[in-house]
Amino acid sequence: MASPTTRFLHHHSHYSSASKILIFFCLSAFLALALIANLFRASLSTHYLAIATNWVDTNAPLLIPNLTAIPHNNNNNKGKDGKIAKRRGPERFLSATFADLPAPEWHWKQMPSAPVPRLDGYSIQIKNMFYVFAGYANLDHVHSHVDVFDFSSNKWVDQIKMPKEMAHSHLGIASDGRYIYIISGQYGIQCSGPTTASFSLDTATKKWKPLPPLPAPRYAPATQLWKGRLHVMGGSKENRHTPGIDHWSLAVKDGEALEQQWRDEVPIPRGGPHRACIAVNDRLFVIGGQEGDFMAKPGSPIFKCSRRHEVVYGDVYMLDEEMKWKILPAMPKPDSHIECAWVIVNNSIIITGGTTEKHPVTKRMMLVGEVFQFRLDTMKWSVIGKLPYRIKTTLTGFWDGWLYFTSGQRDRGPDNPQPKQVVGEMWRTKLHLS
Ligand SMILES: *[C@@H]1O[C@H](CO)[C@@H](O)[C@H](O)[C@H]1NC(C)=O
Ligand SMILES: *[C@@H]1O[C@H](CO)[C@@H](O)[C@H](O)[C@H]1NC(C)=O
Repeated sequence: MASPTTRFLHHHSHYSSASKILIFFCLSAFLALALIANLFRASLSTHYLAIATNWVDTNAPLLIPNLTAIPHNNNNNKGKDGKIAKRRGPERFLSATFADLPAPEWHWKQMPSAPVPRLDGYSIQIKNMFYVFAGYANLDHVHSHVDVFDFSSNKWVDQIKMPKEMAHSHLGIASDGRYIYIISGQYGIQCSGPTTASFSLDTATKKWKPLPPLPAPRYAPATQLWKGRLHVMGGSKENRHTPGIDHWSLAVKDGEALEQQWRDEVPIPRGGPHRACIAVNDRLFVIGGQEGDFMAKPGSPIFKCSRRHEVVYGDVYMLDEEMKWKILPAMPKPDSHIECAWVIVNNSIIITGGTTEKHPVTKRMMLVGEVFQFRLDTMKWSVIGKLPYRIKTTLTGFWDGWLYFTSGQRDRGPDNPQPKQVVGEMWRTKLHLS
């Protein structure tokens, strides 16, 4: 709050005293409103903030420290903000789109939409086949099937029913190139409770098998198959809000568990759901995410979602054969809801869209429209392009030189990054990496 205010005053130091008084009055009124809003929110969230102290394990080694990479939102729009303030008055001194990063425009082509719109869906690509799981159609309706897209014919070609005990959103998901593993997640509509039930799908026979249940349920845990073991970590705990830092693994082969029980592994330094989890050779990366999430309203028979305090982050953690978490350079901006929004192309991780920190003035949720590249050789991030609109929980694939994405919740328009429509649209663009 301090910085936009000072910026505004600085830009207007030559005004007459009458307009100064007017501006002072408007600003005071605005600040008073903001204070009231903050007090109101604080009374809702103090209870949840109390658990925040243990969220980050500061003992994790810093491999490539770069803290300047995190908060860079305030510098880009100085001139623009000043202008907007002059034109429309003090209530607009921060542009609603202030968090968009400069990025090249890309040419996208629309492809056939998925049979249903999806928010919080999940996906796995196996060669040219793209398996799109579960998700919300809207808060009161969840999907219980898999839609299958064929990148070589560019058609939706199949639909597979899910087991009825399987979660409908906030899954953990991973694949070995034939079998898809689905771990825990939220069972039901709105902000329903979680299940520990876990399954594998043989994509060749379309048959499901149960796996040993996760030791405790998790919402949207980071999940990946790495060196013959299924790794599951982070996520939110049973109340949907408290970040978990536990890390478990299970030896699996051909869709079956080779062990009766999950094994404890080194806990992840920071917990929370909605992160990208990617294995490349002998390294496991966990990227972005958030602490906190919506919770069910106490006593609500339909588990109605109610907003709680959230912290979105761009942290990157890595495990290698040493089995100690290392901290890598953070994403260009905080980014969450990206668990299936990534592909690996030419030794780079490409990430599309997501959600970032809420707007500092309006407190509204803000979506991400950029495409990010993380080069695995240099461990450096860059912003390489723009999606056709800002969108979270995209499902991303790569085939024959084309970057594809489908589904998620998109923004209200070019000038308004708040989430609105849940879509099933599919888009693609030719990808050229440097
Ligand atoms: C840290 O990140 C910033 C912004 O991305 C960059 O300008 C700077 O060179 C980086 N510093 C180091 C030491 O890598
Ligand atoms: C990946 O690298 C190959 C070989 O250098 C190149 O031909 C191809 O265009 C690259 N792919 C992308 C998406 O940039």
